[in-house]
This record gives sequence, C-alpha cells and structure tokens, in this order.
Amino acid sequence: MCGIGAYIGDKDASSILTSIIRDLEYRGYDSCGIATYSDGKINCKKDIGKVSDIDFSSLKGNVGIAHTRWATHGIVNFENSHPHSDCDKKMYLVHNGIIENADELRNILAGHEFTSKTDSEVIIHLIEDFVNAGDTVEDAFVKCLKLLEGAYAIVLIHEEKLYVARKGSPLVLGVGNNEMFVASDSVPIQKYTRNIIFLEEGDYGVLWKDNYKINNLDSVDVDREIKILNNNIDEISKGSFEHFMLKEIYEQPKTIERAFLGRISDDKVKFGGLNISEDVLKKIKRIILIGCGTSWHAGIVGGYLFEDISKIQTKVEYASEFRYKNPVIDENDLVIVLSQSGETADSIAAIKEAKSKGAKVIGIVNGVGSTISRMVDGGIYLHAGSEIGVASTKTFSSHLVVLYLLSVYLGSLKGTVRDPAKMLNELQEIPALISGFLENNNIEGVSSKYFDCDNALYLGRDYNFPIALEGALKLKEISYIHAEGYPAAEMKHGPIALIDKNMPVIVIAPEGRLYPKIMSNISEVKSRKGKVIVITTNGLEDGFDEVIKIPKVSEYLMPLISVVPVQLLSYYIAKKRGCDVDRPRNLAKSVTVE
Ligand code: AGP
Repeated sequence: MCGIGAYIGDKDASSILTSIIRDLEYRGYDSCGIATYSDGKINCKKDIGKVSDIDFSSLKGNVGIAHTRWATHGIVNFENSHPHSDCDKKMYLVHNGIIENADELRNILAGHEFTSKTDSEVIIHLIEDFVNAGDTVEDAFVKCLKLLEGAYAIVLIHEEKLYVARKGSPLVLGVGNNEMFVASDSVPIQKYTRNIIFLEEGDYGVLWKDNYKINNLDSVDVDREIKILNNNIDEISKGSFEHFMLKEIYEQPKTIERAFLGRISDDKVKFGGLNISEDVLKKIKRIILIGCGTSWHAGIVGGYLFEDISKIQTKVEYASEFRYKNPVIDENDLVIVLSQSGETADSIAAIKEAKSKGAKVIGIVNGVGSTISRMVDGGIYLHAGSEIGVASTKTFSSHLVVLYLLSVYLGSLKGTVRDPAKMLNELQEIPALISGFLENNNIEGVSSKYFDCDNALYLGRDYNFPIALEGALKLKEISYIHAEGYPAAEMKHGPIALIDKNMPVIVIAPEGRLYPKIMSNISEVKSRKGKVIVITTNGLEDGFDEVIKIPKVSEYLMPLISVVPVQLLSYYIAKKRGCDVDRPRNLAKSVTVE
C-alpha cells in the first residue's frame, strides 16, 4: 500500500517526482525513493523517512520513477524501500500492491542476489531473468506480469522508457505536451495536465515522452479514453493551521454545505449520478451499507437514518468481512459503499461480491475518478476536497450529509417522510451552528486535563452511539491512547469493570428521547468514581467533571454536531502528547491492501 509516480519528458524529473510522491504520502510514509536516468545510467536515492526529509535534487535527468512506502513485506529500512533494481542496476522498479506468490517466485530465481525482504524485488529479478534469456524488456515485462499472483501497480524504468502495469492497485497516466506522468491517483498529476487515463485491470503500457501504448496481457492494443478532469484541485496547504487535521475540522461548515449544495431544490432532494430509476428505488426492500473504519461508522449512522426516516430495513457491514459471509443478496437490495478515498481494497472486494450477486451498488465517495467511483452503478460525490490528515474528519460529516439526503429522498419516494421541507431546512442550518461551536468551545482546556490518560471510554446511545465509536477511533489512531466506544447501556454488561478514578468516560448525551436513560448510565459511572466528560446540549447540570456544550438540533442531525467535539478532543490530546497528528505511526490514509 504505497504511492508511486513516474515522469518522462523534457523537464527536471526529480523535482516533479518529489512533488508527486509528496502528494501521495497519504498512501504511506515509512520510506521513499526516486530513480532517474541520465548519461546512460540510472541513479537512485532512497531512505527511511518522509519525502521532506530527503533531498532528491542531485538526481539529474528527464525520466524517472518514485515511490513512497507503507510497509507490508519487510520492516521499514533502507533495503526494503523502493525503487528496487536488477543485479546490474540497468532497470529499476516501483510497486504498489502485494505479490502473493513472491516466495515461490523467489525460489526459482537462483543466482539472483536479493537485497531486500520485499515481494516487490522479486518482480525486477524476474524481468531480469527473462531479459538475460534473450527477451526484449517489454516481452520480459509481460511474461513476468503473467506469473504474478496478487495485486500490483508497477512502473519500471529502463533507459528512456517507462513500462507500467495495473492489476488490483490503481494507476493513472497523465498525457502532457511532449511529456507523460504516472501516479497512483490523478490529483498529483493534475497540477501538470488535466488529460488523464485511468488504466484498467490487466492493462500494461509503454511510455515514451511523446507517445504511449496500452495493451492487455495478450499484447492486444486496448483503447483507453483520455478523460479531461476539470474538478477543482485544492491547494494542498495547511494555511494558518498547525495541522491538516485541525484545518479539515474547521473546514466542516464549508464541506457540509458543499455536500448538500445543488442537491436540494423545491424542498426535494435530487441526485445527479444515481443511475437507478425511481421505480426501482421504490421497490428497495433492504439497504446494505458497507465501509471500513470511519466510513463504517458513518454507515452505522446511515443505518439509523434509513430505518428511522425511510423505514427501510438496513444492515451495516464491515467491508472486510462482508464477502466471507457468502451474503444473501437479491435484486430488492440496494448496496451502498462508503469510502473517503474510493481506493480501499476491502471495500472494492465487497463491491465485487455484491455485483457478482446482481445487487445494485451505489458509491458515496470523496475521491473523484477513484476506483470505487468507476466500478459502481451509480454514485454520489462528497465534494469535500482533498483530506490530507490520516484521521478522517470532514469526509465523515460529508458522508452523514449525503446519507441524510438519501434517507429523505428514499423516504419521500416511499411516502414515509411527511415534511421534507422542514427536514431539509434543518440540514441547511447546520453549517452555521458548527461555525459557532468552532469559534467558541472549551475543548482545548478539557484536553489539557486528560491528555496523559492511558485509557478512555466513549459512550453514546441511539444516533450518537456511532459517534462514541468514532471518538474512540480518533483518539486511538492519533494519540495512541487505548479507547473503546460503546452504546451507553452496554457498559453495565462488561466495560463497567474498567471504571475507576483514572478512567475518563466521554459521554455524548444531547437532550432527546433517551436523555433520562443516558443520565442513569452516567450515574453508574460516577458511582464508580469514573471521570465524566459530558457532551450535551444542556450545560446546566452539576456533578460532571467536564461539560462540553453543543447546539441542539433534531436527533437525526445530532451526529453532525456531536462528532465535532470528539474530533477536536482527540486532536488537542494528540498534540499535547507530541504525536505526529497528520501522519500517525503505522497508518496510511488509503488502505489498498486487503
Ligand atoms: C479514519 O480516521 C481512518 N484513518 C480509517 O479508519 C479510514 O476511515 C478507513 O481506512 C476507510 O478508508 P476510506 O474511507 O478511504 O475507504
């Protein structure tokens, strides 16, 4: 699960490649490297660390490849970082994906000296083996690809030519004027050209600076359309914020608005790209929501919305588990896949499973032109702009907006929504309420009292149970504090045993139908001397250790509000602990391995 890039043209390759892999660091940032060709040989520089830690400017030449790594095979060290070369250092290669039969292939490469423990290095030695036996580099490349089991996006450099291939991992080409670009996604390329080709499964290609060809593995020419991407590429900068995560939390009033803008008209919801007729949608008997991590949490909120508002039976599934259940699906099911990146391997595998069983699949994704957006029957983009912080924040709230709109839309079709105008007006008031909360809250102060805890418990009920899960995930991933999220009433069935005077318990308890019940759950915590941090719309009660007051909205919109304090709390705690907030250890923004 890595980011790869390549360039061939007349410009300085290393500076373009540095920019490409810097933009791809969301895919991994354990180590990185670049190899360029000049004066008849390839020079390579690589090391552990982030792109900003290494100066690549000494690499000369107008053609090169680059890589930023998230370790899957082999620890994080110099040897395992990419690019990898053949024994004679005539060819170098970068790879994203997992070669499942790497060990088997390594065994047949007798005589080759391996310098790394990676599966990727096997590929370059295999190509070298075919070249030594007399094949052209292109023939050797194709023969090698046919032997690989698993997933790959590959770029190989040999003299002034690049060889690319894709199966299971994304790879896009940018077609410039006398220059070609390659990257794991289109965003880093769009600074240079808007003419983008998305390679399809099983494609391989050869690139020259002024030409390219794309074939399938039978060496038959395949026609891949050049798409002109005109979407806004936001400047990837932190502006005046210390971290991307904080910037992205503060962007939410704007990104929430962008998620509903143009989708509400005459008190009705309309979507441009669903590609499923209203007649078919009216017959939907069940919705299956699928995602991973934060996107899965958004799915749980969606489950409440579809049952409550649209009165449609809904299941929420982890993408990674879905297909192993051999799920029972029929044409009355609507599968909705949620993903920020649109590249998550587990979610892609779940879509394949659902489609193979004939289900209609909708994707709600942020990544424009991403793999998921291109494989679903219909889709809804979040339009949240690039999310750089590894911890998802603004895309979570955008997912909630789209799910809310969809629940009102389906409910209106089914006749279960009586007053859509009221529901849609309420949604449109949310950005201003969040802005007000962001301007004036006590969360930094609260975080300074709890930042050195070892454990934390998050509790919520009903629509706010998924926010308890999300709060715990946010805290774990960026501050490395062990945290659990539970439905508040479940606490007494086990987790209550953990509570003592050192355990902060964050309770999301806005006023609503379960308010009295969650207050009883809080009493259970207080009786065991737990520290109670309550996030509530009613700031008047005494007896809590901390009260974080949030604005009051309808219960089905409350998660959009209540998630903001849990995001901020984890941000400030992680910052106080000196953690690398935007790039937490062991993680990557886009998880492209199963
Ligand atoms: C969120 O903060 C995480 N880093 C992670 O759980 C993420 O939500 C998950 O990997 C799913 O990614 P996706 O939305 O891009 O599919």
